[in-house]
Amino acid sequence: MSTEGKNIFSDIQEYASRLDTSEWEGTIKEFIPMVQANPLLSQLSHARILDMIEGAGIKFDESDTNKQNPKYDFFKRDLFGVDDAIRRIVKYLKAAASGSQVGRRILLLYGPTSSGKSQLAALLKQGLEEYTRTENGAVYAIADCPIHENPLNAVPYALRKKFRADYGIKVDPLARLCPVCQFNLEDKYKNDWLSMPVKRVFMSESNRIGIGTFLPGDTKNQSITELVGSVDFSKLGEFGVESDPRAYKFDGELNVANRGIMEMIEMLKVDPKFLYVLLTLAQEKTIKTERFPLIYADEFIVAHTNETEYRRFLADQKLEALHDRIIVCKCPYNMTLDEEVKIYEKLVAEADFGSVHIAPLTLKVASMFAVLTRLEPGKDQNLTLLKKMNLYNGKDVEGFTQEDIKNIKADVDREGMIGISPRYIFNCVADCFTKYDLRCITPIDVLRSIKENFESNAKLTKEDIAKFDDLLTIVVEEYTKMAKNEVQKAFFLNFEQEIRNLLNNYIDNVGAYLDDGHVVDEFGDRHEPDKHLMRAIEERVGVSESAKDSFRQEVYRKVIKTKNDKGEFDYLSHAKLREALEKQLFDERADVIRLTVSTRNPDPEALQKLNGVIDTLVQHYGYTAESANQLLRYVSSLMSRTT
Ligand SMILES: Nc1ncnc2c1ncn2[C@@H]1O[C@H](COP(=O)(O)OP(=O)(O)O)[C@@H](O)[C@H]1O
Ligand SMILES: [Mg+2]
Ligand SMILES: [Zn+2]
Repeated sequence: MSTEGKNIFSDIQEYASRLDTSEWEGTIKEFIPMVQANPLLSQLSHARILDMIEGAGIKFDESDTNKQNPKYDFFKRDLFGVDDAIRRIVKYLKAAASGSQVGRRILLLYGPTSSGKSQLAALLKQGLEEYTRTENGAVYAIADCPIHENPLNAVPYALRKKFRADYGIKVDPLARLCPVCQFNLEDKYKNDWLSMPVKRVFMSESNRIGIGTFLPGDTKNQSITELVGSVDFSKLGEFGVESDPRAYKFDGELNVANRGIMEMIEMLKVDPKFLYVLLTLAQEKTIKTERFPLIYADEFIVAHTNETEYRRFLADQKLEALHDRIIVCKCPYNMTLDEEVKIYEKLVAEADFGSVHIAPLTLKVASMFAVLTRLEPGKDQNLTLLKKMNLYNGKDVEGFTQEDIKNIKADVDREGMIGISPRYIFNCVADCFTKYDLRCITPIDVLRSIKENFESNAKLTKEDIAKFDDLLTIVVEEYTKMAKNEVQKAFFLNFEQEIRNLLNNYIDNVGAYLDDGHVVDEFGDRHEPDKHLMRAIEERVGVSESAKDSFRQEVYRKVIKTKNDKGEFDYLSHAKLREALEKQLFDERADVIRLTVSTRNPDPEALQKLNGVIDTLVQHYGYTAESANQLLRYVSSLMSRTT
């Protein structure tokens, strides 16, 4: 890792300068003018979390001119390709923040295992810890309240309307003091609510402030007290009755999460009586505890579950009352190839694989396989899974453009809910690292590991394995093309320039052909369009004689459009043309390449050329000498096979 020009302490300093952790202590009387000056201080949990997310930045794709699909920077560090799910969550938060009934339901994320649900909750929780350490996210609480409640809960009901109308201070009409604060108000503060102590609090999962998590254990041993707290028997003697708030421990996860976030892991695995407690909390904003008054609480409940549990829950008639009080948010796997690569890059960075080099395209082929397993064939036979993958990855494919995606997705309903998880694929990647003396891993290593893993996986059926085998074949074919392409690029020192020359040449000829005109060469001489060249290129991608005219028209229109947009022809703008040009260029030089890479005893000239190629791969394309050599060996074996 290069640390050149970096200073760890200046990074720490820079981070600290964005935070504000100044403490504050005072009374409600002193707090009220602060709220008047800064309405953020009266925010409830959903609104604060929404602000946190939106405040981190919102982006729109260039093509999204109507701003229909916001992308939230808040999640971008750790979550890739799940923008739709994120959007649904933000939408829920918006509704909740504006006080709509939607916010009175529990948000349930459901999806296949390892689709990033826990990751999402973790980001929200960590984000909130940090956010309350900034000026905008500052939270104040009644100082001696066990659940860090909002000081404004002490405002008498009779004043709340006036507070809002005349001073813009919002107090939740449902809010009421917790039993401890109520007791203190009367006993300690002699009913003078303005004198109650207030302090700034910082949310923290480990300090159990504002962030709660519940993970169901064994159903038989589950006790509701983990959620709602319990009587403190050691204090019962002192205070006499169980209903004395001083003899109660407000240490249930739901109590702890007041003002912030409550994460319910595997929510549908809990005893249904727990679910009713959650529901009351979401709907009435109260925590129900035995022999105790209802406790007002304000928190964002985010629950998750897997699909099997979810189906079982839906099928259970006894739980009908619950069904429509839960907002379900589907969290499918990512289906965008480039984003999948980012997931593995993140996981590799988090793991410790020492100094082992991961050859270019390694994570890409693993990602291709992962994404392909998640796709479903649609109605249109012309859209193969491979094409679909490329289309979802932002590249138009023959016969389909980005505009078609919406309809294509409407055709299938299990897409992303099936297939192989990132964790599984990453384990296959990690398996490659267990060899001794390993210096690099290559796409072939990873594909082999994936194959070995699914063959030894007891959970997979014969059909699954057959399907995965087919997909793996597709990936290998794609990899073969990419590998040849890598070598080809490295062979031509000026690959880009050469291919552009070929493109210009082709387009000039096509233009002349379509206009019934002539091509003018550099000497000013006029020639008929070069039929052979055009056909040679077109045949590379199977354009038949009868289809050539429409192909030429389409290419011409597209390429001219990129010229108008970008100032020059862009061969990348047309996938098929690009493939054709690359193949043509490659084939023109195939003999030279083949002779060079596949001779057993290269002569000095060939050797020099080979070393040059390896150098280029190392210097410009991210290879090490070893992985470059392996790539060449692979391509040479392919080339000797195809002749
Ligand atoms: N879309 C994604 N973006 C980034 N990482 C992901 C994504 N999906 C899964 N992961 C990673 O895969 C692993 C499993 O995800 P996790 O959040 O535990 O899944 P879940 O809770 O849905 O079962 C985590 O390391 C997570 O970071
Ligand atoms: Mg999980
Ligand atoms: Zn209280």
